[in-house]
Amino acid sequence: MIYQVYPRSFQDTNGDGVGDLAGIERRLDHLVALGVDAVWISPIFPSPMVDFGYDVADYTGVHPLFGTLADFDRLLAAAHARGLRLLLDFVPNHSSDQHPWFVESRSSRSNPRRDWYIWRDPAPDGGPPNNWISDFGGSAWQWDVGTGQYYYHAMLTEQPDLNWRNPELRAAMLDAMRFWFDRGTDGFRVDILWHMIKHADFPDNPANPDWREGMADMHKVLQLHSTDQPDVFAIAAEMRALADSYDDRVLVGEIYLPVERLMAYYGKDGDGVHLPFNFQLIDAAWDARSLHRMIRDYDAALPQGGWPNWVLGNHDRPRIATRVGEAQARVAAMLLLTLRGTPTLYYGDEIGLTDGAIPPDRVRDPRELREPGLGFGRDPVRTPMAWDGGPQAGFSAAEPWLPLHANWRTRNVAGQADDARSMLSLHRDLLRLRRAHSALATGSLTMIEAEGDVIAYQRVSGSERIVVALNLGRDPQAVPVRGTLLLSTIGSDVFTGRLEPDEGVILLVQD
Ligand code: GLC
Repeated sequence: MIYQVYPRSFQDTNGDGVGDLAGIERRLDHLVALGVDAVWISPIFPSPMVDFGYDVADYTGVHPLFGTLADFDRLLAAAHARGLRLLLDFVPNHSSDQHPWFVESRSSRSNPRRDWYIWRDPAPDGGPPNNWISDFGGSAWQWDVGTGQYYYHAMLTEQPDLNWRNPELRAAMLDAMRFWFDRGTDGFRVDILWHMIKHADFPDNPANPDWREGMADMHKVLQLHSTDQPDVFAIAAEMRALADSYDDRVLVGEIYLPVERLMAYYGKDGDGVHLPFNFQLIDAAWDARSLHRMIRDYDAALPQGGWPNWVLGNHDRPRIATRVGEAQARVAAMLLLTLRGTPTLYYGDEIGLTDGAIPPDRVRDPRELREPGLGFGRDPVRTPMAWDGGPQAGFSAAEPWLPLHANWRTRNVAGQADDARSMLSLHRDLLRLRRAHSALATGSLTMIEAEGDVIAYQRVSGSERIVVALNLGRDPQAVPVRGTLLLSTIGSDVFTGRLEPDEGVILLVQD
């Protein structure tokens, strides 16, 4: 299981209201008790923080807010000493506009680093070179007065895209990965991998016929030519070859694409990333029949040797407990942690955090600031972790950079740790079972036909057979399976063929 830490919000140790590396180290035992295998930390590198670290100004350093390289080394050693792996977040598609490479690149057209970014002449009318739209809204091209050309930015103006068709840039970026691998980092989550290469001719993207008022500006066009280009796979293969030149390293790719296109990121004969993030559970309607089909189809679409993975939430999307409610969040946890494949759990979901309320004067996210009021803001899912009922929930000695969730006095780690029925205990129980039963850890998955609000599937390894049955609805449901009850989301003691409302069960089936 991979656990995502959003470092600004996990644990502050130096009293500035922002989390840091020493804070992650202090809380490692929470992760061990939970049953985590690997920790992925969102970006910790020097950055002007316009996009909270996803605008990197130095790929081989640590932002002073988070600590120093020595703090990183200490955290890594402490994680390894506990049997935890540590993954960093590599942001290769773009840098900060404050990165020395970009400062050089924009200094003149003849600068040796000019081609490390994507510069184009204006269209004949003087406007942007094409109609591509930034994911944060508005044209993806920014005019540079000094050199009389536009540069491309798929994200914010302050995040110019790097030109991965330039061999020197490519080598420099792979060197940055090597830097962290050499220190012992166990792998990377690779940011927006599917954006890294654009069509060589930069043709206009087609208009999106389904765009409606209220949808994000970026969806006015389909990202046909700006993303998911065939040449991206050679880059993934280069990263993979680098990872494979070390022992036991992993690459996880951030890719928001439909399943049939996602699968290509496993690579030819497995030379792509190990785990192209499968975000379907984030976007899916919470409906048993469509989830059933999705799970079946995803498992069937995997390439030979491709290992599945599932995600319920991250720092960009609404939290699961907000999307489906408190009772179903427990069912969702059972689903996430019993499906075939590596689950990724977002910090705070293990205590059932919901999206925080952010007063207008505390909004920090550029996504919200640029397209306000449409519900795209990500601050609500980045609120501080609640550790106990003390001041600032044990997160910090100072006012946190984002407000705590409203009910932190009761919804926190210490308050749930000794309560056998808490969300935290449910997660610990699920992860304990996953470790104890190879059917759950690595077994095959077969969907069981069910009706109404029930999803059911069987996991088998050798002679061990486990059935998971989940009631996604508010009515009791009869389920035609029997077995010894290993765990119920609502704490039932036995299973008699009937799921209570909002109940999920794990059954050991003896033939
Ligand atoms: C990814 C990150 C997101 C960031 C964006 C731009 O989608 O998850 O937080 O804003 O990339 O780097």
